[in-house]
Amino acid sequence: MLANLDRVHRGDPRTIGYLRQALSHEMSVVQHYVTQGQLCALWGMDAECAYFRREASEELGHAAMIIRHMLALGLTPNATQLAAVRPGRDKAEFLVRDMQLEREAVQLYAEAVDHCRRTRDETARQLFAALLKDEQAHFHELERMLADATHRESCDVGIFG
Ligand SMILES: [Fe+2]
Ligand SMILES: [Fe+2]
Repeated sequence: MLANLDRVHRGDPRTIGYLRQALSHEMSVVQHYVTQGQLCALWGMDAECAYFRREASEELGHAAMIIRHMLALGLTPNATQLAAVRPGRDKAEFLVRDMQLEREAVQLYAEAVDHCRRTRDETARQLFAALLKDEQAHFHELERMLADATHRESCDVGIFG
């Protein structure tokens, strides 16, 4: 009985694993987008800097959602595995790298949603589904920006509009 209660309140080990992976991902992308934004600032690209600042802020919001869920489960939110920052050398490389990271997020959250559906953890499923929706939107936005990049660059207009 106690074991069952504990499982209900704390989530099963795999769900907790997804939460930890998710937090590590979100904190990693915060560092990543802040780095890209500050590179843009160093290069005097103010619009691009503002774009990456907004991205970092949105990813920080995701981290806060995950941390809130973990705290409610009595878990300590520690992102112990931050990914190495590889921002890219120019704007086009930035977008390609960003798409890789957003694709990884979509895969992670799609798996997590499936798992929570199977284990009937509706609260965690809703959290991961909301994150999945945002990451899919990020991915599609980057896809559009990258598709526009060649044309815009040939017109000497910034990728970020
Ligand atoms: Fe995110
Ligand atoms: Fe994202």
